[in-house]
Amino acid sequence: MKTLFDPVQVGSLHLPNRIVMAPLTRNRAPDAIPTPLMAEYYAQRAGAGLIISEATAITHQGQGYADVPGLYGTEQLDGWKQVTQAVHARGGRIYCQLWHVGRVSHVDLQPDLQHPVAPSALVAKTKTYVIRNGAGSFVPTSEPRALDAEEIPGIVRDFRHAARNALSAGFDGVEVHGANGYLLDQFLKSGANQRSDDYGGSIPNRARFLLEVMREVCEEVGSGRVGLRLSPVTPANDIVDADPQPLFEYVVKQLAPLQLAYLHLIEGSTGGPREVEGRPFDYTRVRRTWRDAGAKGTWMVNNSYDKALAEQALAAGADLVAFGRPFIANPDLVERLRSDAPLNAVEKATLYGGGAKGYTDYPVL
Ligand SMILES: Cc1cc2nc3c(=O)[nH]c(=O)nc-3n(C[C@H](O)[C@H](O)[C@H](O)COP(=O)(O)O)c2cc1C
Repeated sequence: MKTLFDPVQVGSLHLPNRIVMAPLTRNRAPDAIPTPLMAEYYAQRAGAGLIISEATAITHQGQGYADVPGLYGTEQLDGWKQVTQAVHARGGRIYCQLWHVGRVSHVDLQPDLQHPVAPSALVAKTKTYVIRNGAGSFVPTSEPRALDAEEIPGIVRDFRHAARNALSAGFDGVEVHGANGYLLDQFLKSGANQRSDDYGGSIPNRARFLLEVMREVCEEVGSGRVGLRLSPVTPANDIVDADPQPLFEYVVKQLAPLQLAYLHLIEGSTGGPREVEGRPFDYTRVRRTWRDAGAKGTWMVNNSYDKALAEQALAAGADLVAFGRPFIANPDLVERLRSDAPLNAVEKATLYGGGAKGYTDYPVL
């Protein structure tokens, strides 16, 4: 029986264990530039089999929150180089999560104060985080405008370009953010996509944008360095699909020939219950569909896992388990899980924004 502490090959990387640090936005990158403090934070967590970076904007248009990092300017890339070097120096491995927020943004964060972009001009009933006169606050998202079909190839190229930038900044690979109600998830799901062109309506049409992005990113950096995160039923950021089971089975069937390093599934409501009322979903069927279509990559699961549940997931066929909040509060999470040591609790007040407090000062054993 495999355990969390067994090594595993993930695409072109060999991981010493199956414990992954989930992507975690911490809003500590002023002007979207990663800092030395971020390098210290990630290096502290280098014991993870794999670290997935916090979501990182592929372009200015892809930004949706204050002080989240980007991957499109020279200074941003230089900032990330310090991070990847620090992680590698501690023997770790790190992927970059590539992010376009779509409608989950605010005019204050957009180039020339323009409207955020989306599949359709539908406001997400959710909040984003802005900083005005030095004070951070959560504010409702701004009304988006629907993208013209002619603009979509440009965003596909932006993803491709960001993937190349990630590798040049020293990342070991990239995870495309297709989850949590951000741009690619907005296109996938009927609740946010009311288009009548080739990118809306039928399942193949709604999946088209994501699949175009995945093909281009794989072509750019090699599929052994590419993962994808999906969240079939999460209500995060006001997203919903009328019938997610066939949608995600179609998506993974189409993805199978690409031979991604991994698929990363958030089960249930992100950071909340693993079952969402009124939204039943069969993840095992999706994994089987992916495998039956020839996929050889690894299957990563996430959401509210502890050690016992994680080992059950491995026994049931998962290859990797991603931990989010436990990694925020426990830089030495792998050692703590190994020795069944108690875990530090997360301090909510310091999750988003600030400095070292609640970031790099959680105690190790
Ligand atoms: C502070 C915080 C920031 C997060 N940022 C991201 C992010 O940047 N990208 C993402 O895909 N998910 C993000 N998530 C979701 C986590 O990756 C994860 O799915 C969630 O916390 C559930 O896993 P857990 O129960 O192990 O914490 C974030 C969650 C938290 C608590």
